[in-house]
Amino acid sequence: MVGIPVRVCINGYGTIGKRIADALVKTGDFKVVGVSKYSFDYSALIARKKGFRVFVPRDRIDEFRKHGFEPDGTIEDMIDEAELIYDASPGKQGVKNKEFYVKHGKPAIFQGGEPPMVGEVSYNTLCNYNAALGKKYVRVVSCNTTGILRILCSLGVKPRSVFATIVRRASDPREDTRGPVASILLDSQRIPSHHASDVNTVVGDIPITTASVVVPTTLMHVQVLRIDLSGEKTMDDLLSSMEKSGRILFLNPESMGLDTTGKLVELARDAGRYRYDLYENIVFSSTLKLDRDVLMLIQAIHQESIVIPENIDAAYAVLNLEIDPFKVVEKTNRALGIGLVKDLITGVK
Ligand SMILES: NC(=O)c1ccc[n+]([C@@H]2O[C@H](COP(=O)([O-])OP(=O)(O)OC[C@H]3O[C@@H](n4cnc5c(N)ncnc54)[C@H](OP(=O)(O)O)[C@@H]3O)[C@@H](O)[C@H]2O)c1
Repeated sequence: MVGIPVRVCINGYGTIGKRIADALVKTGDFKVVGVSKYSFDYSALIARKKGFRVFVPRDRIDEFRKHGFEPDGTIEDMIDEAELIYDASPGKQGVKNKEFYVKHGKPAIFQGGEPPMVGEVSYNTLCNYNAALGKKYVRVVSCNTTGILRILCSLGVKPRSVFATIVRRASDPREDTRGPVASILLDSQRIPSHHASDVNTVVGDIPITTASVVVPTTLMHVQVLRIDLSGEKTMDDLLSSMEKSGRILFLNPESMGLDTTGKLVELARDAGRYRYDLYENIVFSSTLKLDRDVLMLIQAIHQESIVIPENIDAAYAVLNLEIDPFKVVEKTNRALGIGLVKDLITGVK
């Protein structure tokens, strides 16, 4: 068993990697021994200012030196020092990096852009924390899949079937060459989109169909869920079950004036959330509808930050630091300030 703080490194310091690094520091249970940079840009300087050591590929050291930046070592040096690796490289690169981690005998947590076989398990804390206990290679599923799974696994009843319509953001704010710029694009030209099979990598026994389109925005995904529930449940039962998950925030768009993703981003800013991160599923509470056995809702998912809590939780599982998922959720939520946005606007359903 490893000691606290656990030495971790982040291979891939982009949108997801930099958020994982900051979140790990906040827990107090992990020490970030380094982050990697593959090309020189401003984020190498910011990482260093934050106190992270910056490691680069051996054959690019000179490129960094040309910019007056002396790297702290090579990627290999960083991996050697770490007891756990976060791989947050561009999609499908992690599976290639894995060979390297295996060679060094180090456990690793991968992201949702990797094929499922990269991990021994595809992971969501509320669904299958125990399946990740002591595993060496775990894949944290992507943003839309995480958003859907949190709902399905917090209902307190197993759904008979699910249909989800996903309205995806076209790109993250800094990805300014991606589109579409004006059109609405079919994310998948067939139904189901890949999200359904991704949900099934975690909960294989829930029949789910998904359809997905991409719209020209950088500010969050929106999902419309239709969940056919087995068994008698009232809306109050379902709400209290979902609220207990600790990762779902119900906001009333009518009384709060929060009926667009742009306004949610403003809420995050006003609430003091760093980078306007919204780690919670934002369920528009006025859209919740229970029609006999069928639950319907609309939710917004902040693609850049939604997977960060699960990434932190996963480390506790992989390293066998805690066997109770609820304790882990509580710990991670406390570190990231999850719940504080709710506290600011309490009393409204
Ligand atoms: N962005 C999202 O909305 C989102 C949401 C959920 C999951 N994910 C998943 O998270 C993963 C990372 O996505 P991202 O959006 O964070 O990507 P990103 O912003 O493009 O960051 C990827 C980083 O990987 C670095 N890199 C380049 N080559 C590498 C290599 N060979 N090994 C390790 N790192 C390398 C790049 O470093 P340099 O900058 O130094 O070149 C870059 O900063 C993907 O699997 C993605 O599907 C993304």
